Amino acid sequence: MKPAQAIYRIDSSEATLLLSANGAVPRMLWFGASLPQIADPSALHSLCDIAVPQAKLDTAVPLSIFPDSGSGFMGPVALEGHRAGSHFSCTFKIEHIEQSSASIEFTLLDPVAELRVRTEFLLDSDSSVLTINTKLENTGSNAFSVTKFASATLPFADTFTECLTLNGRWGLEFQQHRSAISANQLRIKNTSGRTSHEYFPACIVGQQHFDAERGQVLGVHLGYSGNYEFTVERLSTGEACLQAGMAILPGEINLAPRAVIDSPPLYACAANSLNQMTQRFHRFARRHVLPKWTRAPRPIHANSWEALYFDHDEKTLLALVDAAANAGAERFVLDDGWFHGRRDDTSGLGDWWVDKTIYPQGLHSLVAHVRKRGLQFGLWFEPEMVNPVSELYKNHPEWVLQVEGQDTPLARNQLVLNLGLPAVRDYLYDSIAALVDEYKIDYIKWDMNRDLVLPGNNGQAGVVAQVNGVYELLDRLTSAYPALEIESCSSGGARADYGILLRTGRVWTSDSIDPIDRLTIQRGFGLFFPPEIMGAHVGHDVAHLTGRATSLQTRAIVALQGQYGYELDARHISDDEREQLVGYAERYKQHRHWVAECTTWEVPTRDASLFVKGQVSADQASSFWTVVVSSSLDTTLPEKLRLLGLDGAKRYRITVVGWEALKSFAKHIPDWVVSGAVVSGSELMNIGLNLPVMPAQSALLLDCSEA
Ligand code: GLA
Repeated sequence: MKPAQAIYRIDSSEATLLLSANGAVPRMLWFGASLPQIADPSALHSLCDIAVPQAKLDTAVPLSIFPDSGSGFMGPVALEGHRAGSHFSCTFKIEHIEQSSASIEFTLLDPVAELRVRTEFLLDSDSSVLTINTKLENTGSNAFSVTKFASATLPFADTFTECLTLNGRWGLEFQQHRSAISANQLRIKNTSGRTSHEYFPACIVGQQHFDAERGQVLGVHLGYSGNYEFTVERLSTGEACLQAGMAILPGEINLAPRAVIDSPPLYACAANSLNQMTQRFHRFARRHVLPKWTRAPRPIHANSWEALYFDHDEKTLLALVDAAANAGAERFVLDDGWFHGRRDDTSGLGDWWVDKTIYPQGLHSLVAHVRKRGLQFGLWFEPEMVNPVSELYKNHPEWVLQVEGQDTPLARNQLVLNLGLPAVRDYLYDSIAALVDEYKIDYIKWDMNRDLVLPGNNGQAGVVAQVNGVYELLDRLTSAYPALEIESCSSGGARADYGILLRTGRVWTSDSIDPIDRLTIQRGFGLFFPPEIMGAHVGHDVAHLTGRATSLQTRAIVALQGQYGYELDARHISDDEREQLVGYAERYKQHRHWVAECTTWEVPTRDASLFVKGQVSADQASSFWTVVVSSSLDTTLPEKLRLLGLDGAKRYRITVVGWEALKSFAKHIPDWVVSGAVVSGSELMNIGLNLPVMPAQSALLLDCSEA
């Protein structure tokens, strides 16, 4: 029960959360670096008391953990809705508080609007990431229509004046954008029905000019793969707050009497730099989000898509498998084009059985060959979709998301199946499970290639039900096949979030494998996701999406930032290229056993064209660094490189891979680059390294391991 003057507190290894239940409004007093014990709670309350300005309400309106309009709060309220027009406003009072060592749950009640809210704060002791889960219950006797329901509203420091978001488009996801936090509300709203290319569900607020190594930040991520909304606002009182939650379409959530709805979890991390925030999110995701199989060394993929597109048959695939295996691949993934009626993107989606005209004996010989060469086998699916030209659509036109009387615009010639319907989920489960059983599939590339338009489910908006349906189907498959690895792909990286990653364990980061575009794509992705789940492939010399030509060295080094693999026609590479690929594959294999526990480091650079990223093993004994120049630097020599995250007292042997390709660009290459060197971590982090002359689109790999 609620004692007067109560302060509720959870501590983790590096953070403290303080919530107050003083008075009517529950408040977050602190979430940030660890604080000493509070000697006198009532003194702290008097410190947190707030002034009441003129010309406003006669009482203070502090920022609640669940702000409501009935208290007079004029910023973003957490809940909006009504009961056939009435109960349009809420006033929540604390009903109950429950505390354990790692969690605090506030139960709030509005007896007039007949609504109960439970909001739970869980602070992970190891990573210091805070998870907030909120539930809404209708305690009334008729339906309550919910139009807004935020997962959490967090205050942040007055000194935070910048907001970083990740935005993008197909082929260029996760681009970093900065906005000033001033008088107006900043809003991110995604209504695409998937996590989207455009608005990644996260936002980082922080001190001016915060970067990889400097400035306090508060980063939040919503673990949800549907529609959502974020707002960042400085109120006229000067208080600043950040709010996030699912976005609800008109009439989408009608809460029946006694029914409860869960908000998607919000994950928050307070840190002293982006690198620290990233390392904490990675630690958290590895322990609490990602499937167990992601902890094992990640195999090298060879994916058939850009090698062959739809143009394959058994003979071609067998040759591709051989060529990919000879280049070091460990898992062969047959992409789109293998199922009934699928020779291009106009038909076939929904008919999940092997096409008998191209593969009369099924995929058995292919799979046997893949295994004979020592590789694993993966298969592409796009379960949520259907082409109007398909057996499935012919038999079940009623199975698509649609609005009666309206024509749903096609995207890539396809419509979306209504996964809110149990019959649709059953059909998909049975189709996929039959193939997993028949071919002992190791891995599924689970694709989802369109935005949801007119997402009607039996006359009502159905995005929330769709997302729950996708989660349910994946949960069913992963519990039946716990060793089956599933990748989340959505025209590249349009479905990457901790919601989908509770069920999948790898992301196809982008359809662009142009290594220069990948630098910013992978940098943004890496803020919230660890490298071992980032699909990164070496593509053809001329990137298919951008037409840019790059060296194999640059393509391979950029791919080594993630789960290394191939997206090229290995049948048509030279012996020299094959040898190079094998060499990089060997490097990848050397490090991958510690990468799943590594810390990643972004080295901030003065010249925005120089990209330096490092992965350091948990024991600080091993590390490797990718150094890539995107376009011509503004100085003849690259700026000095100071490494991060090493043990100052350890001695490291530093060796450079790829320097030979730079010989013709300078009269002299620094000695350590050519012959390697053994120096202390302290020298590497303080004095730093003089890099060789590096032209546009060049890349080096630095291996730095304990001597
Ligand atoms: C999407 C994916 C690609 C590929 C194609 C196949 O675009 O992002 O990687 O699988 O579909 O149609």
